[in-house]
Amino acid sequence: PQDQVLKGKKVLVTAGGTSEALDPVRSITNASSGKMGLAIAQAFQQHGAQVTLITTKPNLASVHDIELIPVTTAQQMQTAVLQHFPHNNVLIMAAAVADFGPQVTATNKIKKNPQSDSWSLTLTKTPDILQAVAKIKQKSQITIGFAAETQNLIANATQKLTAKKLDLIVANDVSQSQIGFNTDDNQVTFIRPQQKNWQTPVTSKQNIAQLIVRQVLDLLQ
Ligand code: C5P
Repeated sequence: PQDQVLKGKKVLVTAGGTSEALDPVRSITNASSGKMGLAIAQAFQQHGAQVTLITTKPNLASVHDIELIPVTTAQQMQTAVLQHFPHNNVLIMAAAVADFGPQVTATNKIKKNPQSDSWSLTLTKTPDILQAVAKIKQKSQITIGFAAETQNLIANATQKLTAKKLDLIVANDVSQSQIGFNTDDNQVTFIRPQQKNWQTPVTSKQNIAQLIVRQVLDLLQ
C-alpha cells in the first residue's frame, strides 16, 4: 500500500451496469464498463481502507485485498448494498443501476410473432438503492453518488445530491465520447452541499479515483 491514511476505515463501492432479464437469453443493460468503480476500489485499498466491491463486472481485473461481491440485477445490488452498508464508513455508488426493468421475466425464450412488426414491453421501476440508503444512513456515514447526464449536468446532479442526501456527487457528462462510459479517461465535477463546485481536468479514471479519496479524507475530518 502507498500509505495508511484510511487504515481502519471500511469502504463499500459499487461498479458496473446492472442487467435486467427479459428471458433466459436477453436483457436490458447499459454501457457502464465498471472501470471507474474498480479504480475507486483500488485507490481506497491502496490508502489502507478495507474495501468491499459489489460489481456486475467481477472478471474485469484481478483485485488484491478487496472483497468482491458479484451481482447482476438492480435488486441483487440493492440486497448486497443494504446488507453491507450498516458496517461501512463510506459508500460510493459508481454503478449505473437500471431505473426500469421488465415487468415479467419470461421462463422461456420469447418468440417473435410473425403477424406483428412491433412489440411493446412493459417496464417497471427498479429500487432506487441510494434512496433506500438515505433512510438508514447514520450521521457518521458518508455516501457518494454519481450522476451520469447528457444534458443540464450540474442542475440535475445538484438535485440528486439533495434528494439522495449525499455528501458528494460526482457529476459526469456522458454525452462526450472520450470521457465517461466505457472509456479509460474521465472528467467530472465534484458537488458538495454548501461548497463551491470543482471540475477536474480530463484525466485517467485512476487519477479521478485518487481525487475521490482526497474528497473522502476531507469529508472525514
Ligand atoms: O437518479 P440517477 O440514477 O441518475 O442517480 C445516479 C446515482 O444513483 C448513482 O450513484 C447510482 O449508482 C444511484 N442509483 C441507485 N439506484 C438506482 C438508480 C441509481 O442507487 N435505481
